[in-house]
Amino acid sequence: MASTIVVHSHRGGTGKSTVLANLALLLAAEGRRVGVVDTDIQSPTLDLLFRLPPGDGSLTDYLLGRCEIEAAAQRAGVPGLYVVPGRTGIAGLREIMATGYDVGLLPEGFDRLVEHFALDVLLLDTHSGLGNETVAAMASADTLVIMARADRIDLCGMEETLSLAGRLACRRVLVMSMAPEGTDRERVRRLAEEVYRAPLAGLLPYAPEMAALYGERIFAEARPDHPLIDEFRTIISALDARDEVSRA
Ligand SMILES: Nc1ncnc2c1ncn2[C@@H]1O[C@H](COP(=O)(O)OP(=O)(O)OP(=O)(O)O)[C@@H](O)[C@H]1O
Ligand SMILES: [Mg+2]
Repeated sequence: MASTIVVHSHRGGTGKSTVLANLALLLAAEGRRVGVVDTDIQSPTLDLLFRLPPGDGSLTDYLLGRCEIEAAAQRAGVPGLYVVPGRTGIAGLREIMATGYDVGLLPEGFDRLVEHFALDVLLLDTHSGLGNETVAAMASADTLVIMARADRIDLCGMEETLSLAGRLACRRVLVMSMAPEGTDRERVRRLAEEVYRAPLAGLLPYAPEMAALYGERIFAEARPDHPLIDEFRTIISALDARDEVSRA
């Protein structure tokens, strides 16, 4: 049965799309069939990160009734990896904001992708905060990966996300991102488990090598032997270890 993993953070710029793209590549490289949907139709990123050519549609086109969601999925990088971009061009955003759409199309579209591409994993990227697409994605999650920088402002926002996640029937794990050098991993783990009641799936350091890619390549593809890749693999193990991950 496919597992739907949603990556979210309350604040923007925590590294959601970066983490999701790396997990997607590593999972597909292991031979799993992976679907990715960029539900961040306001500020989509995955078309850029995966360097997708203009295709036959996007999530926005699907929501506007202009294409089937399967037609919007593009093969990306590794065999078995399919990516649905959030949007192509700016006109779609103006239009969807003016007309709205049936939110029920989102879970229906996710199910269709899983079935059509025989997916093992569906990864959903989200816009920060709690808009329609984000809440619909979270409601479809088997596992919610909540990301935050080790920063008081991010951590306060995380409580809001956790309070919503507590009402959803999904597992949740935390990933701390852009941790400064010298961050005490055990302290962060205790904080996650005791204060946020969710296991720490990963602690990603601030990596200047990652910033230096300028979003032009995905780290796992550009630097497959970098130690940071082990941290992404640790996150994958935590996502796989279903029994060890608490339910909300
Ligand atoms: N661990 C890291 N170390 C250094 N830079 C990072 C790290 N993770 C991500 N970045 C950089 O931070 C920027 C923001 O990352 P990203 O776009 O993945 O965040 P996001 O949470 O998806 O943002 P948004 O909320 O806008 O969707 C990018 O330029 C990315 O290359
Ligand atoms: Mg993003």
